[in-house]
Amino acid sequence: MFDLTGRVALVTGAGQGVGAGIARVLASRGAAVAVNDLHEERAAAVADAIGASGGRACAAAFDVTDPSAVRAGVERAVAALGAVDALVNNAGVPPGMGLARFRDMPPAEWARYVDLNLYGVLHCTRAVIDGMCERGFGRVITISSGAGQVGLPIGVALYGAGKGGAISFMRHLAMEVGRDGVTANTLALGLMDNAGDEASVAPLAASVPVGRLGTPEDVGAAVAFLASNEAGWITGQTLGVNGGSVTS
Ligand SMILES: NC(=O)c1ccc[n+]([C@@H]2O[C@H](COP(=O)([O-])OP(=O)(O)OC[C@H]3O[C@@H](n4cnc5c(N)ncnc54)[C@H](O)[C@@H]3O)[C@@H](O)[C@H]2O)c1
Repeated sequence: MFDLTGRVALVTGAGQGVGAGIARVLASRGAAVAVNDLHEERAAAVADAIGASGGRACAAAFDVTDPSAVRAGVERAVAALGAVDALVNNAGVPPGMGLARFRDMPPAEWARYVDLNLYGVLHCTRAVIDGMCERGFGRVITISSGAGQVGLPIGVALYGAGKGGAISFMRHLAMEVGRDGVTANTLALGLMDNAGDEASVAPLAASVPVGRLGTPEDVGAAVAFLASNEAGWITGQTLGVNGGSVTS
């Protein structure tokens, strides 16, 4: 079950953190993985580590917010590994992202949240969706956040707007491509272990119903399932991967 042998996956923003974990888990299930990141050296380090542990991967550095860079980057990845069967839209934290209430955020700063969290998803999906539909198989999986599902008083309104927009896009995409063998689903993540110190992690972990923060491998397991043949009847869904923090 959930064997990805012979499949090719492209994971965006996979040079560290959650995306790197997703790439590792997909490779461990047999997929060849194109590791995207804005930073070439990060992407290469993750791809090399997958190769060193017996998997198949290549680095695919490009900026997901730049449509021509996305097209060229996807072409390079396809030349290296083959046509993309599964796209994981994971890139989503703008460099230097801080917390700021909407009233305190200048309009000039809005675009970077929506560009990355919504347009990045659109550009990458556009680059692979025709091929998926023509071949009769595809998996588009977008990594969103609880901030895209519920209101939070912590200064993430613009981030949440981008994340929520992507959730809505995925639902509509699912309706349009369902008969072509392509599914489109979203994972809405909760509080992840971002390698903070014990003093900052403990109260966060205590606020999560299962009593701990999430790991990249928790997310990777859910992505591997959604990418598999066995998940072909699941589409248009938003699955909380959050230790029970937001229920549905
Ligand atoms: N970490 C959390 O607590 C948390 C919680 C909820 C949701 N998420 C979501 O999970 C995903 C991964 O988060 P993370 O914490 O691993 O992030 P991270 O910042 O640790 O890593 C993101 C990677 O994406 C890359 N990136 C940024 N902009 C890019 C672009 N334009 N093109 C290509 N690559 C780009 C960065 O260089 C970085 O290596 C994001 O979508 C984020 O919104 C994270």
